[in-house]
Amino acid sequence: MKILFIGDIVGKSGRQVLTDNLKALKNQHQPDITIVNCENAAAGFGVTPKIAQAFFELSCDVLTSGNHIWDRKEIFDYIDTEPRLIRPINFPPATPGNGYFIHLAANNKKVAVVNIMGQVFMATNLTCPFRTMDSVLEQLSGKADVIFVDFHAEASSEKQAFAHYLDGKVAVVVGTHTHVPTADERIFPNGTAFISDVGMTGDYNSVIGMKPQPSLNRFLTKLPQRLEVADGLAELNGVVIEVDETTGLSRSIIRIKC
Ligand SMILES: [Fe+2]
Ligand SMILES: [Fe+2]
Repeated sequence: MKILFIGDIVGKSGRQVLTDNLKALKNQHQPDITIVNCENAAAGFGVTPKIAQAFFELSCDVLTSGNHIWDRKEIFDYIDTEPRLIRPINFPPATPGNGYFIHLAANNKKVAVVNIMGQVFMATNLTCPFRTMDSVLEQLSGKADVIFVDFHAEASSEKQAFAHYLDGKVAVVVGTHTHVPTADERIFPNGTAFISDVGMTGDYNSVIGMKPQPSLNRFLTKLPQRLEVADGLAELNGVVIEVDETTGLSRSIIRIKC
């Protein structure tokens, strides 16, 4: 089976490039499941129910997120009513929403999509992603043919270590959050597809999706400065992974961009 994953959608221009290209991408790659990280879709900060709904109407199957998931307050209630929108699983137990969703693909195969956050250089203090994955794998045992993990983290070292930890246990570990694509996509020795970061779907004439000047001011003056989403022409970044659903391991991973 094939999995199409698209990196963090940032703002209106990110949403537009997804809208403009998704149909053609799906025709070209014929994915059995389309997964999109939506944590910056609403003007760079979080996602609204309306935007999430628009992504589902575009034929996205599962939406992952990250540290920005709580930026829009209306998402607190919505996430409990929409299981296809997931948030990092290593938040405390009473947190709204779920950290994984099991998608039934057209060939009747079950794909578990897991969202989990790193600890290195991240603002929040969540449970250890490594040990949390041990219990997630126990929970998913016998319930999924293929396990896909969106590891939302800052440090390449933590992402690579995490993928080694899960090598042979899940089909895919893709990194998100830095908004900069890396060129290290590969199949690990025991069959897990990996990339340190898929990169964002947004305006790259920016500082990780935000207008350059306010970001520059922060660095130059050390004063707080409100960041604004960059709204120029966006670039879509993603990966297509081919998975052997009988073993639950991957055959190939390629980067895509448009
Ligand atoms: Fe992001
Ligand atoms: Fe993030």
